Amino acid sequence: MAQLWGGRFTKETDKLVYNFNASISFDKRFYRQDIRGSIAHVTMLAKQGILTEEEKEQITDGLNGILRDVENGSLPITDEYEDIHSFVEANLTARIGDAGKKLHTGRSRNDQVALDMKLYTRDEVTELDGLLRELLEVLLILMKENTETFMPGFTHLQKAQPITLAHHMGAYFEMFKRDRQRMKDIYKRMNLCPLGSGALAGTTYPLDREYTAELLGFDGPTLNSMDSVSDRDYLIELLSAMSTAMMHLSRFSEEIIIWNSNEYKFVEIDDAYSTGSSIMPQKKNPDIAELVRGKTGRVYGALMSLLTTMKGIPLAYNKDMQEDKELVFDAIDTAKGCLALFIGMLRTMKFNAERMEESAKHGFTNATDAADYLVKRGVPFRDAHGIVGQLVLCCIEKKIALDDMTLEEFRAISPVFEEDIYDAISMKTCVETRNTIGAPGKAAMEKVIAAEEAYLAENPKLQR
Ligand code: ARG
Repeated sequence: MAQLWGGRFTKETDKLVYNFNASISFDKRFYRQDIRGSIAHVTMLAKQGILTEEEKEQITDGLNGILRDVENGSLPITDEYEDIHSFVEANLTARIGDAGKKLHTGRSRNDQVALDMKLYTRDEVTELDGLLRELLEVLLILMKENTETFMPGFTHLQKAQPITLAHHMGAYFEMFKRDRQRMKDIYKRMNLCPLGSGALAGTTYPLDREYTAELLGFDGPTLNSMDSVSDRDYLIELLSAMSTAMMHLSRFSEEIIIWNSNEYKFVEIDDAYSTGSSIMPQKKNPDIAELVRGKTGRVYGALMSLLTTMKGIPLAYNKDMQEDKELVFDAIDTAKGCLALFIGMLRTMKFNAERMEESAKHGFTNATDAADYLVKRGVPFRDAHGIVGQLVLCCIEKKIALDDMTLEEFRAISPVFEEDIYDAISMKTCVETRNTIGAPGKAAMEKVIAAEEAYLAENPKLQR
């Protein structure tokens, strides 16, 4: 049992207590950030004359050696240490002797862990942003290729009005664009350095906190040492933003599952992204989409857990906060994994354009346009609504689409109909005439595509 304290204790820690308290099994994940923070800390201590240049060199070399050996596998991080901080410090002292014991001057594990977690999640925010950007790129390609791929738009899962696949993909583009904006906001708000806050009340050493912040790529130091060691808002914000992104992925997955069903057949998921059944040979299941939908609950759970953990914690640091790590790590891994798989699935998925257009035709999605046709010829909308209602009933009886009715049949219900009704209710016209910005018409859609393209060009992946 290797721990960083014990001077005032007369008994060994009970083994169960030790294990319950230890965090090395999960905080070993940020060994790189821990070492990076320590190097910045000693660099600042030397600049301030708190350590000599020679001590700084020794410590820095020692830390870089540990980093190298952990990375090349010759120094495994084992459970005999309480946490990653103890592991690094113990190994440093074993390697360079007494100078290693000076590393922790003017620092507490409370500001150290606050820093490590921030450095770790800051990197992950950039990763998440990159994946979201990749998803947007795939969506943009689909939008460009499908401005004339007609399909039914739904409300209540009932065919409503015709749209295009470009328009449908554009809806998701907006959602994931907002998810990216949230990542950017979180990055900006969290990017202040807690190091130098000590256990809770700063330190008596003349630390230069601005300098450490700068060395670690922060916009500046945090402004209250109690808040610095006990702030987990940025993790809650990240969990919330990831939950929202997962909610979007889950809705999209749900649609893909429906579209992939035998009844719809709007899409075909690539063999590489679907699975079979052990008993029913004909099956090709959308497991990836189902798993993404399922894992969404897991990310929501992490958000609820951390909010609950934080709600009763008095200032400043309390050990409850150690619970943030497994939750956040799991949620990040889950969200990143889901995004990566979803991108691959979407990129390789085939859309059945013919089937989609057929479906739009046979669902009376042009009924509103038939009513509008009458309105343009002076029929009051309420009457037009009634007339088209009768047309639909007639079609249902004959099992045909509106476009399949003869002009005589149209005129039998209303003499206002002329030969041009066919053009007015064709799928192409229905969509093409909806050209207010944000609507599915090709001209409107092309403007939006240009705007989204400009957005992507102006918003490259967030940099570490
Ligand atoms: N493992 C702890 C955590 O994750 C590190 C901080 C420990 N600080 C302390 N005073 N025990 O929060």
